[in-house]
Amino acid sequence: MMCLTSHYVGAYEMYSCSVLRRCVPSWNGNQDYKTNTIEAFCRVKYLISMSASPTSGPPTNYPVIIQGGMGAGVSNWRLAQSVSSAGQLGLVSGTALDPILARRLQDGDPDGAIRRSLDAFPYPAMAERIWQKYYIAGGKAERTPYLTLPLLEKDSPRELNELCIVANFVEVYLAREGHSNPVGINYLEKIQTAHLSCIYGAMLAGVEYVVMGAGIPLKIPGVLDRYVHHEAAEYAIHIHGSQDGDDVTMHFDPREYMECDPGPLTRPKFLPIVSSNTLATTMLKKANGRVDGLVIETRTAGGHNAPPRGKPLFSAIGEPVYGERDSIDIAKLRELGVPFWLAGGYGSPEMLREALAQGAAGVQVGTAFEFANESGLRPDYKQRLIAKAMAGEARVFTDPLASPTGFPFKVAQLEGTCSDADVVADRPRICDLGFLREPYRTADGGIGYRCASEPVTVYVSKGGKLEDTVGRKCICNGLLANIGYQQVRNGKREEYGIITAGDDLVTIARFLQPGHTEYSAADVIAHLLTGCDESPISDACDDVCFA
Ligand SMILES: Cc1cc2nc3c(=O)[nH]c(=O)nc-3n(C[C@H](O)[C@H](O)[C@H](O)COP(=O)(O)O)c2cc1C
Repeated sequence: MMCLTSHYVGAYEMYSCSVLRRCVPSWNGNQDYKTNTIEAFCRVKYLISMSASPTSGPPTNYPVIIQGGMGAGVSNWRLAQSVSSAGQLGLVSGTALDPILARRLQDGDPDGAIRRSLDAFPYPAMAERIWQKYYIAGGKAERTPYLTLPLLEKDSPRELNELCIVANFVEVYLAREGHSNPVGINYLEKIQTAHLSCIYGAMLAGVEYVVMGAGIPLKIPGVLDRYVHHEAAEYAIHIHGSQDGDDVTMHFDPREYMECDPGPLTRPKFLPIVSSNTLATTMLKKANGRVDGLVIETRTAGGHNAPPRGKPLFSAIGEPVYGERDSIDIAKLRELGVPFWLAGGYGSPEMLREALAQGAAGVQVGTAFEFANESGLRPDYKQRLIAKAMAGEARVFTDPLASPTGFPFKVAQLEGTCSDADVVADRPRICDLGFLREPYRTADGGIGYRCASEPVTVYVSKGGKLEDTVGRKCICNGLLANIGYQQVRNGKREEYGIITAGDDLVTIARFLQPGHTEYSAADVIAHLLTGCDESPISDACDDVCFA
């Protein structure tokens, strides 16, 4: 029997272990670990027994496994739907959903999923405008480029806001189909210009968790609170060089977009992703509303990583070197009194147990799910990297320069993608998606936008520093290419992927069944929960297992 555990066992509430301790068999090893592990098992057992709907009010239940948000489009609705159906928490990525939706429609919406979700969208005239503008019956011709969209700005045009609302609705709506478990969405604080319209669209679809990384999203809880009753929200964005008195505030009023009153919306739980004790404390003390828990991400995680603290040091192959100051004090985290999930190298049963033993509500896992059948990563990229992992040849390079954000970015090494110097050298610099552009104050006090990966002369003409352009890659186009929506340039060349993955890439073969070369999200979950049926929690699992 394979235990997939209940949905949502893992709250941080105090749990009683006294009865359960009696049924724990003798344990080898270090006494502290033994005690912690027993407590963790006790807690899992206790929380499995709670297994109520996580939105039904206190006691609050939480997932043990969060499938991390993976942008762009890697954690798509199919992956999140599979994970949530299996009783854990699936997160769709909320990054760049506007071009993703537009491109899916230009590809002809082959399985009809988008049409289905648009039919459920509460504002039909808006849905129809999107459909009419982007849908191409049968899909566009292969060598025809996708339409170029307006880029997000502090004051984005209505047309773009509508696309963001609808795209976020669609992704969450589809991820929620076919089951009644919660689904969440992941955003990057760094892409502030997307927040207001995107979050509103996700909430219209009933998203139950908003998980946000890449920054310090202190003002997001207030936005979530406002949208419950469709009230106008605002958000101050960071504008490089801004001065006192400059208008840096973005506004969004749902009532300017509503065609009817769909009634109050559910306030999602909010989990910021942080990488230090200081940021964890800051989020809890200074946020402008409720923070429901924290995801603590370490530097082995896929995607962008926090840079090392202090003076930058690099290894012989040019990766950032982290030190003692970058480690996280879990005991201090526990003292904060909110549930937390550990992320970055936690994609194994051993690491899940360790996290629980340390008092975490569970783990957030990305890389293991990235290579599951349901993820949005192109099947050929997936297969080639799984083959490399099986052969012991998979490599990830933590590139300190690739991302225009300036944050280290993990890049899986794969020939024919942008990990390959020749592929990058062959690509003219073009910035036409612009998600990672930095808003800056122009000489006349207005707002300009620049990206260190755009053409060098353009970037420098906008006041950017020449040295900041060195080694930069176009992450936006690379990420869309990763999921099969690569732009075609002049009908000739196309964009190539830049695949990010965590250090756990080298171990993904562990999820393969004997004789198989691919695996599903359910395989990952089953593997992570290995040992559940041999442990003190096995009898509790019986209620929620399937054979
Ligand atoms: C392909 C990929 C894309 C990612 N994109 C994002 C993202 O858009 N936002 C985010 O907060 N984290 C992102 N992450 C981090 C994951 O959400 C998760 O925290 C991390 O993968 C956990 O570590 P692991 O990769 O060792 O399992 C990404 C990770 C991967 C592998």
